[in-house]
Amino acid sequence: MKILILGGGGREHAIGKKLLEDYHSIYLYFYPGNGGTSIIGKNIENYHTALDLGLFSKKNSIDITIVGSEIFLLEGVVDIFQNLGLKIVGPHYLAAKLEGNRIFSKTFMNKYGIRTPKYDIFYCYEKAINFLKKKTNSVAIKTNGIASGKGVILAHNPNDAKKALKNIMIKKKFGESGNQIVIEEFLQGKEASIIALFNGKDIIPFLSAKDYKKIGENEKGMNTGGMGAIVPNPHMTNSIWIDFKKNILEPTLEGLIMEKLTFFGFLYFGLMITYNKVYLLEYNTRIGDPEAQTLFPLMKSNFLNIIQSSFQHKSISIDWKKLCSCCVVLSSRGYPEKYESGKIITGVNSLKEPFYIAGAKKKQEKWITSSGRVLNIVGIGKTIQEARIKAYDQVQKIQFDNLYFRKDIGL
Ligand code: GLY
Repeated sequence: MKILILGGGGREHAIGKKLLEDYHSIYLYFYPGNGGTSIIGKNIENYHTALDLGLFSKKNSIDITIVGSEIFLLEGVVDIFQNLGLKIVGPHYLAAKLEGNRIFSKTFMNKYGIRTPKYDIFYCYEKAINFLKKKTNSVAIKTNGIASGKGVILAHNPNDAKKALKNIMIKKKFGESGNQIVIEEFLQGKEASIIALFNGKDIIPFLSAKDYKKIGENEKGMNTGGMGAIVPNPHMTNSIWIDFKKNILEPTLEGLIMEKLTFFGFLYFGLMITYNKVYLLEYNTRIGDPEAQTLFPLMKSNFLNIIQSSFQHKSISIDWKKLCSCCVVLSSRGYPEKYESGKIITGVNSLKEPFYIAGAKKKQEKWITSSGRVLNIVGIGKTIQEARIKAYDQVQKIQFDNLYFRKDIGL
């Protein structure tokens, strides 16, 4: 069995390690991969377009491709692979717009009665400015395109809102993705990530997760891809799960079927839990990073069996270990803005599993940083507190120049 995984971060390393743990005899390919994935499989090079990758897969008889990163989804990789008769896990281009196009996504939520914060859509700066003049509450200003996860600005007063609007729509800080915007009511609460597998008929949620998105402790500073995560999310109580299923998951399933947006792949619900209700902030049409690194070590079921059963249209259920996990992301200081790479990392060889390489490569037997997020270290325990202690114990083993990590993951 040959499997190709698309992406080059800790998430893709985690998917690969889980598959190998369940089936030693599979052969893994990654594109573009990283220093960690090159140890457990082969990183393929010199392929630039989704079509190139499809032709590579055809020529090399790849059995299944799993899409990690949204970049490939928004290039229509699933449609291209399926047209070539290849099996691929991920949404086709239209369904990937649920992540890639906020206006499409909010309109879908509105049409199917999926609970989401109130919003307005603007195509022109003047109308948006006039609207903001009448607003006294905090708002979230969001670019229509996802802008590498950075196109969301929270504004807590009219001046900040106007500044944000100017940056997005006039100065084009996020490029073309800010030509249209969504202005959303700001909700105070606790965030949760629910990642699920969608097999075209059912949405099967994983354990709940909590992602730590900001660079600074206590959720201060800029948005990042994610500086850590815990599983399960303590705010997803039984009553919130019931509320989520009734007001978000079930109407989402109905909408996907009605709009012919069904696919086999991951669906990620980005949630905000207020004191007694849960709201959907956004969909992602892939598994989260670092949520994947936090979830897979707790998955008891054989992941490849789950994928194969889904391709055969069999119903699936997923078993989980009754444990908690905590993932700490080690990054290059300066990320998510400017940072230096090429620093020698020490201590990787003394790490205990689970850990994942996110942005590092091996050069003459030495590990070297190669990206903003460098390493993901995971602790597993009976409680979040125990998992957190184990993760941070391991973090102490790692050193490199300009190492930065948040110290409050799981607190
Ligand atoms: N951790 C958030 C994301 O993957 O988008």
